[in-house]
Parts: sequence; structure tokens; C-alpha cells
Amino acid sequence: MMLPPKALVYPMPVGIAAAYGSDGRADACALGFVGMCSHVPETVMIGINSTAKRKTRRSILERGCFTLGFPSRSQIAEADYLGIESGYDADKLSVIGFTAVKGEKVDAPVIEQLKVTLECMVISTSDVGSHTQIFGEILCIHASDDILDEKGRPDMSLADPLMYDDYGFRYYSLGGALEKISRPGRKYKGRRFRTTIGNNTEDYSSREVLPDCPCHHLDGSESIRIRLFAVRLMPADRLSSAVMHLRL
Ligand SMILES: Cc1cc2nc3c(=O)[nH]c(=O)nc-3n(C[C@H](O)[C@H](O)[C@H](O)COP(=O)(O)O)c2cc1C
Repeated sequence: MMLPPKALVYPMPVGIAAAYGSDGRADACALGFVGMCSHVPETVMIGINSTAKRKTRRSILERGCFTLGFPSRSQIAEADYLGIESGYDADKLSVIGFTAVKGEKVDAPVIEQLKVTLECMVISTSDVGSHTQIFGEILCIHASDDILDEKGRPDMSLADPLMYDDYGFRYYSLGGALEKISRPGRKYKGRRFRTTIGNNTEDYSSREVLPDCPCHHLDGSESIRIRLFAVRLMPADRLSSAVMHLRL
């Protein structure tokens, strides 16, 4: 089914952007428009609506810095509240009992109750349609001890981040860790194509086929080359059906 266009990354982590306002008060808002941008320098992007009421956007642009924290599943009510009330109308952090301290590297509040928080300095902005994309270089990361693994890295299953689906307007949690990156795909690595002869489907890698495949000189068509190679490897009892296939 074809669906109408919609800004969508599926799913999105819920981020909490925080900044000091011109009144000096720490405020924060919930964000789904959150993404990684660069390894060098380490950079994230947040998108804040420039056509709607957003105190956090104004504060970030005025101060040139912000923090981006990630709430846990257990903080769903607090995170949601930060996304439905404006800092123009309430002292949001004190309403939900969150506290903040000034960042180590930037002049922005680090919310103490969030398990992972990035301190970011604004390095550029770009208006794209309704939203201002704010690019922040990450100057340091705060992670609470209880979510670190044995190597001192944040463990996502311990942090239990809150996720959001902008299609269903619904929060989700992660389903748990799967395999390590680069392991599940290994069974396909080096394979360049699959071919079917008769009822049999086989995988062949280019390393196996290209060096001495005799049909290079017979026919330019890649599909014929693949099939001839298959004949070479085939047990005698399957050879006759393969030859018939080639004659078609
Ligand atoms: C889950 C969730 C995700 C949100 N994502 C964004 C977003 O990416 N960009 C944005 O401008 N507003 C987003 N909002 C809305 C703002 O958080 C909301 O308007 C907030 O009240 C703004 O507060 P402020 O005026 O204190 O900045 C989101 C709200 C929720 C609940």
C-alpha cells in the first residue's frame, strides 16, 4: 500500500533537549527529531519546530549550546509531560521533580535523573521547512554508573530507552538485545549472487566464479556465465537437467 509522505524514522528515540532560558531557568522539551550526524567531530542533530511555540529552541539558539538526554521507559510520564507543556507556561522540571546542574563543558543544564546525557555546543543550524535543524558537537557524555557494562560503556538494555512511533503516536520500549553488529550478516558476506537450476537454488561468490570461468569467452551474458559455472560444480545426477536448462 502507498502511504502519503510523512517525516518518519522508524522508530525514534525520545530525546530531552535542555537549555537555560534568558530568565536563567533550566527548561527542557521532548524531541523525536533526533539523529547522529558525524563521527569527526562527534555531532548530533535535533529538529525543533520554528513555526510553533518552543521555548527550548529559542533558549538553545540564544545560548549556543544544549544538552540532549535520553529518558528510560520508567520515565515515560515525565518525558511525555516535557513534550506537552511549554516552558513559557510552567517551570517544567520542577513540576516533575527533575533537577539539573550546569554542564561541565557547556552552559546548559544536565538533568540529573536522565541516565545518558550529551553536552553539545551548537556548530550550525539549518532551517528545513517547519523545523530548525540544530547541529551540536558533543563535548562530553554523562552516563550513570548503573547502566555501564563491564567495559564502562553505556549498555542499552540497562538504560532501557524510551522509543516513539510518530505514525501511531505511541511510545515503545526496546525488545531486548539481539546479536552483535557484523555477526548476523556474515553468512551473506562475499556472496554476490544466487542462481536457480531446476528446483535447486545455490549461492555463489564472485571469488569462486570469476578467476577461471570458461564461459567468459563464450557469451557476454552474466546469467549464462553463472549457469555454466553451476554445471561445473554439479553432481552427475543433476547434470542432465542443468544442460537442458542451458539449451532453453
Ligand atoms: C514524544 C514527543 C516528541 C516530540 N518531538 C518534537 C520534535 O522533534 N520537535 C519539536 O519541535 N517538538 C517536538 N515535540 C513537541 C515539544 O516537545 C512540545 O511542543 C513542548 O511543549 C515544547 O516545549 P518548550 O516550549 O518548553 O520548548 C514532541 C513531543 C513529544 C511528546
